[in-house]
Amino acid sequence: MGLRVAVVGATGNVGREMLAILDELQFPADEVAAVASRRSLGREVSFGDRTLKCQALEDFNFAGWDLCLMSAGGTVSKVWSPKIAAQGCIVIDNSSAWRMDPDVPLVVPEVNAHALDGARKKGIVANPNCSTAQLVVALKPLHDAATITRVVVSTYQSVSGTGREAMDELWGQTKGIFVNDKPSPVVYPKQIAFNVIPHGGDFMEDGYTTEEWKMTVETKKILDPKIKLTATSVRVPVFVGHSEAVHCEFERPISAEEARELLREAPGVVVIDKREDGGYATPVECAGEFGVYVSRLREDPTVDNGLAFWVVADNLRKGAALNAVQIAQEMIERGLFAKQIA
Ligand SMILES: NC(=O)c1ccc[n+]([C@@H]2O[C@H](COP(=O)([O-])OP(=O)(O)OC[C@H]3O[C@@H](n4cnc5c(N)ncnc54)[C@H](OP(=O)(O)O)[C@@H]3O)[C@@H](O)[C@H]2O)c1
Repeated sequence: MGLRVAVVGATGNVGREMLAILDELQFPADEVAAVASRRSLGREVSFGDRTLKCQALEDFNFAGWDLCLMSAGGTVSKVWSPKIAAQGCIVIDNSSAWRMDPDVPLVVPEVNAHALDGARKKGIVANPNCSTAQLVVALKPLHDAATITRVVVSTYQSVSGTGREAMDELWGQTKGIFVNDKPSPVVYPKQIAFNVIPHGGDFMEDGYTTEEWKMTVETKKILDPKIKLTATSVRVPVFVGHSEAVHCEFERPISAEEARELLREAPGVVVIDKREDGGYATPVECAGEFGVYVSRLREDPTVDNGLAFWVVADNLRKGAALNAVQIAQEMIERGLFAKQIA
């Protein structure tokens, strides 16, 4: 017996990736439904070698469904996730709506799968921000070995992290520039083609942006509240794959060699770290992949016990859809669904 799974936001970047991953991982689903807004009613989306017709969220009856993979944004999730959970359907949500709720586990299975034991409190589990997910997978083995005290991270985030319209904007501006069309930014406040924008989310009073703040608080909730983290989020003209330049300080010394060995053994991590031209991972190679790629490991001599490295992952996969499906797999392992899965 398998689960009945509804993918809400099935026409979006993350939703389409959810459907692809459910199929690729042969997730034990007896039935899968594609759900989106009324605008997409009847639209077909791919699920393996089949297609599913989209249903409208307002009309979908979640009674009898076991799992809702939700990626329709925070506003929709705030209203709908509690209603869906109240019908006995576990919601794994991709938005930021529930991440900091103390009764909602915020989970990256390689790091804090144990937090899932609280999943039935509200019936909602939160998926972290894409930049946090890949970061904590890389930090976890290093933290276990030498205790991280402080992290300085700069992100190089792809436009798919903002959604389909942002991908269209990069594509349109890029083509336009070759025929002398003046870029007219809509999704981003400045031109994104052939440019970089040091801004993600909304500005806060202290000058940080919400995208940066999320990395700080989510890392504390998932990995360790004692870790101090400061971030600079930057949007770059890349379609898929977020990159991060990370500087860590530890309680005890840790060499680049020791870190490399620890990371090679760590679940979900792929180390590509040859100190030669091209001996590192870039977003182009990581798009469509499951792993979190770590490169450029080196000691940072400017601080006590410092280490610097580069982390890349597919933001739609480990940063969103893959992590959500892995959470569901872990919940099956832990017997957290009402139904026994054979
Ligand atoms: N992209 C990433 O890297 C990433 C990573 C982590 C988390 N997330 C989060 O995941 C969520 C989705 O992101 P995305 O990139 O997939 O966005 P997207 O490409 O813009 O897709 C949005 C999806 O939500 C649906 N939707 C919008 N309003 C709806 C409503 N009122 N009722 C039902 N469905 C509705 C859309 O359906 P229609 O086609 O019918 O409008 C579409 O399927 C966001 O909360 C985002 O912050 C994204």
